[in-house]
Amino acid sequence: MLREARLRSKRLLRTPYVLQQMRTFWRGFAKWRYGFDWPARPEPKGLPEAPNPLRAFFDAHKEGPGIWKWIHYFDIYDRHFSRFRNREVNVLEVGIYSGGSLEMWKDYFGPRCRIYGVDIEPTCRAYESDSVRVFIGDQGDRNFWRRFNQEVPSLDIVIDDGSHFPEHQIATFEEILPHLRPGGVYLCEDISGVLNSFASYIYGFAHNLNACAETQYDGDNNERSEVRRPTPLQSAVGSIHLYPYVTVVERTIAPVAEFVSVKRGSKWEPFFK
Ligand SMILES: C[S@@+](CC[C@H](N)C(=O)[O-])C[C@H]1O[C@@H](n2cnc3c(N)ncnc32)[C@H](O)[C@@H]1O
Repeated sequence: MLREARLRSKRLLRTPYVLQQMRTFWRGFAKWRYGFDWPARPEPKGLPEAPNPLRAFFDAHKEGPGIWKWIHYFDIYDRHFSRFRNREVNVLEVGIYSGGSLEMWKDYFGPRCRIYGVDIEPTCRAYESDSVRVFIGDQGDRNFWRRFNQEVPSLDIVIDDGSHFPEHQIATFEEILPHLRPGGVYLCEDISGVLNSFASYIYGFAHNLNACAETQYDGDNNERSEVRRPTPLQSAVGSIHLYPYVTVVERTIAPVAEFVSVKRGSKWEPFFK
């Protein structure tokens, strides 16, 4: 018995770190997916809903070029895009279909926006106008994106509503995110199904936000008690947001030079110096 326990713990010690990570992943996944009963919700507070101009445009759009969106996307769009309204802003939407969403973005971002649409379907050229430029290509083709990046100024906003194949979403993300302007927003939609490969890719990407490289400690300096040098990714990427079927990545407005841990106050009890 003892021998068996020893062997098991030896084996556990040898278990590669990745396997432990997979177990933890499974714990978080299964715990919340199976056999967990959420307590009954308290009464909602009856807070007023914020007006959403995109939703208003969509609801009023009864005729003309079709727009096809999940309703809960409108709050996500407005939360991340509203600060760009009525500014000079370069917006890319992958997936044009009937062209209605290009009109919606024009209306939302205002007269100074420039919209770029990408679709694999050549007839989508018909949606080109003074403020909309259309590129025909396959979003899974990295050479297409390399040509695209040479022709288009830096983008502020990307909305990937194209093929929805994870490999295409990954290729687009990898080719476009580094060219996004500081402060820019990358939104990928229709990430469908648990254990979706694009979602897994993003979880891997997201782990990098917590990297702890080169930390300097100074217990006597409350203003700089710990200072860490950000990795290149931490310097460029400010946040990652997960929603049902949508992931949003925001770039930092300026490169982050350092992360600083600051202490304020004078009493440090019971055990901190
Ligand atoms: C869901 S529709 C876009 C809907 C539109 N954005 C809207 O809100 O109404 C998806 C579009 O992606 C295009 N598409 C499919 N595969 C593609 C690919 N590999 N590269 C680029 N576009 C693609 C399709 O032709 C289609 O027009």
